Amino acid sequence: MKFLQYSVLPFLLVVVILSFRGATLAHSHGDFLHCLSLHLANSSTISKVIYMRNNPSYLSVLNASIHNTRFSTPATPKPLAIITPLKTSHIQSTIYCSKKHGLQLRIRSGGHDFEGLSYVSGVPFVILDLLNFRAVKIDTKNKVAWVQSGATLGELYYGIAAKTKTLAFPAGICPAVGIGGHFSGGGYGILIRKYGLAADHIIDAQLIDANGRILDRKSMGEDLFWAIRGGGGNTFGIVLAWKIKLVPVPAVVTVFTVNKNLEQNVTKILHRWQYIAHKLPDNLYVDVGITKVSSSQAGKKTVQVAFIALFLGGVDELIPLVQERFPELGLAKENCSEMSWAESVLYFGRAPRRSLDILLDKNVIPRTIFKSKSDYVKEPIPESGIEGFLSMFLEKEADFAEMLMVPFGGKMEEIPENELPYPHRAGNLFQASYIVGWRKEENAESGKYISWIRRFYSYMATYVSKSPREAYFNYRDLDIGSNNISGHTSYQQASIWGFKYFKNNFKRLVQVKTMVDPMNFFRNEQSIPPLSSP
Ligand code: FDA
Repeated sequence: MKFLQYSVLPFLLVVVILSFRGATLAHSHGDFLHCLSLHLANSSTISKVIYMRNNPSYLSVLNASIHNTRFSTPATPKPLAIITPLKTSHIQSTIYCSKKHGLQLRIRSGGHDFEGLSYVSGVPFVILDLLNFRAVKIDTKNKVAWVQSGATLGELYYGIAAKTKTLAFPAGICPAVGIGGHFSGGGYGILIRKYGLAADHIIDAQLIDANGRILDRKSMGEDLFWAIRGGGGNTFGIVLAWKIKLVPVPAVVTVFTVNKNLEQNVTKILHRWQYIAHKLPDNLYVDVGITKVSSSQAGKKTVQVAFIALFLGGVDELIPLVQERFPELGLAKENCSEMSWAESVLYFGRAPRRSLDILLDKNVIPRTIFKSKSDYVKEPIPESGIEGFLSMFLEKEADFAEMLMVPFGGKMEEIPENELPYPHRAGNLFQASYIVGWRKEENAESGKYISWIRRFYSYMATYVSKSPREAYFNYRDLDIGSNNISGHTSYQQASIWGFKYFKNNFKRLVQVKTMVDPMNFFRNEQSIPPLSSP
């Protein structure tokens, strides 16, 4: 009897609880779908909008926008359904039904979230995928555009380039990145020194809030409009579309790449770059990419530092400028190519430049498995420090590792820290980011690669921003802290990651969240929590 009491009863209890939970889950799942079907206009629409697990297209729709395949394994939690709305009323119904039946909603635009938060959750959830919201309307006369969140950066750039060579938009370089997540977190690219961030050029937006109301800048008010321009997605509502200001660029720009490696005195040149890059004229952007490559000595590896630049002008003006300001680089005319701004995006994205149609190809940059982290650097790193991190690239876990250094200064120096939620402005020499990748067949050993990047990050601590150690929201990193995914997260707990991404702007973001979504309907592991939630 004692035996029964102590070993079988707990087992029975677990079975009962699990069956009850399973029943509740199936119940809420069924109820959600029933609710949604009732709200959608007709049955032919339903088959184009709701993808349930038993739908033959479910996995292909799910996988179509997963960039980091670390979150695309059989063990990755999958949504109960994927909703691909065709019109705004479908989104309003999805909000209503998921709220009513207690399901978490994950909003997906381009699916490039570094930690997969737009399509993975540890609690029962549905994905709202904006793949049908991808219209781009360019108005060259007024130098503005409306772009829907489900469009990619490439579709936006293609739309601009189809009309003019002398307008551009200052956002990221990977054509397949989604507008929705990118604009929500700030968004930077090769025009950062001249024009700042994508978010700095948003002048209106269309948003659906937790009550299903459709708001524009005027009706949402300036606090919420401030918050959605950099305060992160999946927090304040679903942004359907953005009105942006386009920026002028010359019809011909120049790009160059100069590669130096450990055998070519690269430490000294990189050390020098830190004093020069942020002070160059703002029409010159020279970033740095560091990788491991084969050495000229057979069978050996070395570390390559690529200095890659965009100059908003012609080559004849560029060469004397670089020779005067950064002679150590040894820039020659044969390193340079003239092209249009849209082509320069492909050059930086390392995409083939056969035709601008490539901007529309969502698979132009291969999907990979990776972990990434970011930092901001305010004082030049001494040569000894540079030698230390360059040597870590020779370790065996760093075969698919890369460090990117993005120069600041220029426009970033002029914009006040609290202008938008993105706070990393004046006083930064550059943004540093680190990424480590591995092959699919090495997934079982992913721990050793993740340990490598965490060791790299620890090494960098001496040389980067402190109190807080700042990080870029769009380079999402769950190592720096996260919310409780069910239940309330306190302000103190969220401050651990919140101040790193937003510094003092985190306080205002919490106030806005408390005002517009006090029940915390829009949530994920790093969404802004309201001050208290039931
Ligand atoms: P995804 O759909 O995964 O969404 C990201 C987050 O935003 C999720 O939390 C999601 O729920 C939320 N969200 C998405 N759409 C929303 C909407 N309409 N309303 C509300 N919330 C929404 N960054 C950069 O600044 N410059 C760069 O050059 C690059 N380059 C780059 C290259 C590659 C290969 C990757 C994988 C990533 C980048 N990034 C980048 C980072 C990129 O800006 C970041 O991952 C964006 O959040 C991606 O936006 P997506 O819409 O693609 O992601």
